[in-house]
Amino acid sequence: MRLFHSPASPFVRKVMVLLHEAKATDRVTLVAAAGNPLDPGTMPVDRNPLGKIPALERADGPTLYDSRVICRYLDATLDAGLYPPAPRLWNTLVLEATADGISEAAVLMRYEDHVRPEATRSAAWTTSQWQKVERALDAVEARWMSHLAGPLDMGQIALGAALGYLDFRQAERNWPASRPALAAWWAEFSQRPSLRATSPA
Ligand code: BEZ
Repeated sequence: MRLFHSPASPFVRKVMVLLHEAKATDRVTLVAAAGNPLDPGTMPVDRNPLGKIPALERADGPTLYDSRVICRYLDATLDAGLYPPAPRLWNTLVLEATADGISEAAVLMRYEDHVRPEATRSAAWTTSQWQKVERALDAVEARWMSHLAGPLDMGQIALGAALGYLDFRQAERNWPASRPALAAWWAEFSQRPSLRATSPA
């Protein structure tokens, strides 16, 4: 399989952490891809019409895209066990969606502040994206700590990818300052070998 990849993308990182946890990094060849909303660059637009990564090219079927689709596929194919049976599954999926929403808002902030031409940038728009991130982090701090204390799953991995991306691109906003329980969880979770091997760059 070939995985279209950027070391900065939190969505790619989800897939990479899954592969490390499943001890299956040798099953994919990484293909570097770079682009942004104004310039598709080397994004795999011929395989994913949305021009986004990650995209997973398979020998035996069409290319898969969207990190949640790829992670479900790899989890099933590698028997990784990162999507538990229902009813815990529903929490895993909601946490994954919440984490992906944090990543999405943070990536949009990055594009707004670094890709959109300076004259048309909107500070109010960036602030509204950050408010979305803050609401989601507050919800995790208030309601998800018992789930985070449970067995490893794809919700936790997606959250790790999102928090790592905030540390990478929005460190000055200091999200841990007002979320002590989540900060303590992240301090430990980020030391897993799968997370250490996939730090954004
Ligand atoms: C970034 O540089 O922040 C980035 C790169 C690829 C995908 C998403 C974000």
